Amino acid sequence: MTASDGRLVGDLARAIDESDFAWSLVLVGEDQRDKLAALTSDLLNKPSTSGDGKQITSGYAYWGIGPTIAWAHACADPFYLVMKQSLDSFTRRWGRVRGRVGEGFHHVSFGVGTGHKDRLVLEHLLERNPGLLYVPVDMSSEMLRLGTQEATHRVGLRGHRVVPVQLDFSIPDNLAELRELIHRLVGDEPVLYSLLGNTLANFDQDDELLANLTALARPQDLFLLEVATTEAVNDDLAQDAVEEYARSRAYREFVTSALLHNTDLTINVDAVQFRGAVEGDRALKVKVVYQNQTGGDIMMMLPDRNRVPFPDRDTIRLYLTRKYARKALDGIVREAGMRKVTGTHSDFGVPRSSQGFGMDLLLLAPGEPVPAPRADDDVADVIWGN
Ligand SMILES: C[S@@+](CC[C@H](N)C(=O)[O-])C[C@H]1O[C@@H](n2cnc3c(N)ncnc32)[C@H](O)[C@@H]1O
Repeated sequence: MTASDGRLVGDLARAIDESDFAWSLVLVGEDQRDKLAALTSDLLNKPSTSGDGKQITSGYAYWGIGPTIAWAHACADPFYLVMKQSLDSFTRRWGRVRGRVGEGFHHVSFGVGTGHKDRLVLEHLLERNPGLLYVPVDMSSEMLRLGTQEATHRVGLRGHRVVPVQLDFSIPDNLAELRELIHRLVGDEPVLYSLLGNTLANFDQDDELLANLTALARPQDLFLLEVATTEAVNDDLAQDAVEEYARSRAYREFVTSALLHNTDLTINVDAVQFRGAVEGDRALKVKVVYQNQTGGDIMMMLPDRNRVPFPDRDTIRLYLTRKYARKALDGIVREAGMRKVTGTHSDFGVPRSSQGFGMDLLLLAPGEPVPAPRADDDVADVIWGN
């Protein structure tokens, strides 16, 4: 880089910092035409009545201004319990784990959402690192704009220390590039990565996603993970989980907003169905599907303007979510190559929620867990042997 290039970067940083206009400099990591092609191809899958054919995968549910606004509305809906409770109780839960995050951390947030939680994380980290760099990573540029503004509003972070990245983090090649970028920006300084709001539960291969994301963490880094949890897994509880989601009209509007914006279907929110199941001993799983209940075949226009059949009873999976068995969490974390530094649990103490449903916030570090001493271990052996 020449001296004049350096000046240009400095001038740009100053122009952003000193302007009253809300500039944001976004790094776009992918060609958005490829994303549209991928969404189109997912909507071309074979007919299925069970939600296993046509689908809108995680990032696409939030992609674009319509779904972004719909998401912000759903988060504010007191009937959308998981998100409402997750946002309401985050201050308390983060307060219980943040003492284990040391000095000098930067923050990389996977899936910024409305930005409320990132704001709390940033406030804490900034007190210990005024030179902090904040890198929110999201597939939706509109979500990045909305979330980043909320996260950085009046926290005292200068504009050029915010580097929003528009990228699909479920693609391993993207993560390899992101790792390179982050390490260039922070050098050896520690990074707190975060995946909050039960985002993990939205992916078919959630274990693979977690392993790929946590692989970015070096020994000096930490990873903050928030998931919805359940004390037990059985069919009745899967039904309770279904009812929890089905209550919120704002949530139905959110899950259908990607269809509304990317196809010419006339959306009927009553055609949204929630199907619960038990996923082994690890989770309760809820598939949210849109079913053609018109009694006849429909022609649906896709983003590439092709018209394809949406046969009677066929479904489009709109969303996938889970509540993880609390007992399974240690195994999930271990399989991702991480160990728990500390964690906190919060029950949904409201009458409308099923007993044992809540949120867990885990602070993780790379590496094997330190084995707990056995009852019959000699104390001195345990201390000196490690
Ligand atoms: C459930 S919201 C969680 C938001 C926030 N972390 C919270 O806890 O409130 C999921 C966020 O992740 C983003 N997202 C989902 N899948 C993604 C993907 N594959 N790549 C990048 N961003 C994704 C969405 O756009 C959204 O901002």
